Amino acid sequence: MISIALYNLKGGVGKTATSVNLSYLAALDGYKALLWDLDPQGSASFYYNIQPKVKSGTQKLFSEQLDLDDLIMATGYDNIDIIPADLTARNLELIMEEMRTSRKRFKTILSSLANDYDFVFIDCPPGFSVLSENIFTASDIILMPTIPTTLSVRTYELVKEYFEEKSLDLRKLMCCFTMVDIRKNMHIDTMEQLIKDKRFFSNYIPYLSDVEKMGIYQAPIAVFAPSSYAAKCYRDLWEEIKEGVVG
Ligand SMILES: Nc1ncnc2c1ncn2[C@@H]1O[C@H](COP(=O)(O)OP(=O)(O)O)[C@@H](O)[C@H]1O
Ligand SMILES: [Mg+2]
Repeated sequence: MISIALYNLKGGVGKTATSVNLSYLAALDGYKALLWDLDPQGSASFYYNIQPKVKSGTQKLFSEQLDLDDLIMATGYDNIDIIPADLTARNLELIMEEMRTSRKRFKTILSSLANDYDFVFIDCPPGFSVLSENIFTASDIILMPTIPTTLSVRTYELVKEYFEEKSLDLRKLMCCFTMVDIRKNMHIDTMEQLIKDKRFFSNYIPYLSDVEKMGIYQAPIAVFAPSSYAAKCYRDLWEEIKEGVVG
């Protein structure tokens, strides 16, 4: 099993769009995939048109009152399940602070998925927190969607500093460009600058209205616009990621 956490310190950079589309493409490839929506806003669950069936599920999972099996739901598509978000994910920080075993809890839960899934995608909330540290430690890959602007360069540096400060494995940190507008010189210049770091995939996701339409269709792009350019861009990115992680 390979776990890929979609993370960025910043919000609104395409974490959810990327996690929804990549998880669907993994499933299309025949992999058993799970999308774990850990952002209390629940956008990934919304895109898969799924509401949680258990009340306060996230809180109960972390406080060991429930097992993962109680929370995993079918999406209606082959090979892809989801753990929907619920508002108690907002309290995860508190729950984790209170529980002494908390730091290992996330890793334990994640490991328990290894028999059932080939890929687990985690849609993370933004920011640095006890939760994000747990996710960084437990996940195989931290994939950071990045809009190529000056501010993103700074954010990228902050995330790398955080990894160093917490002695986390920087080799796990990988990035992809999102919402790219190649008519903007700033985007091109920033991409040229960042790509030197070898942490960025060469395939990127341009700014495309089909990505925004996911909210209307409540489905991954490959479902409602399989022959669109947006679908192709996500496929190309997924192929490159796959090559990097499974060879
Ligand atoms: N490549 C893209 N092109 C156009 N709009 C996008 C693209 N990626 C994301 N969006 C839109 O930008 C907003 C933020 O994206 P989202 O994936 O929710 O970011 P995050 O999860 O990082 O907060 C959403 O409204 C989404 O539809
Ligand atoms: Mg999101």
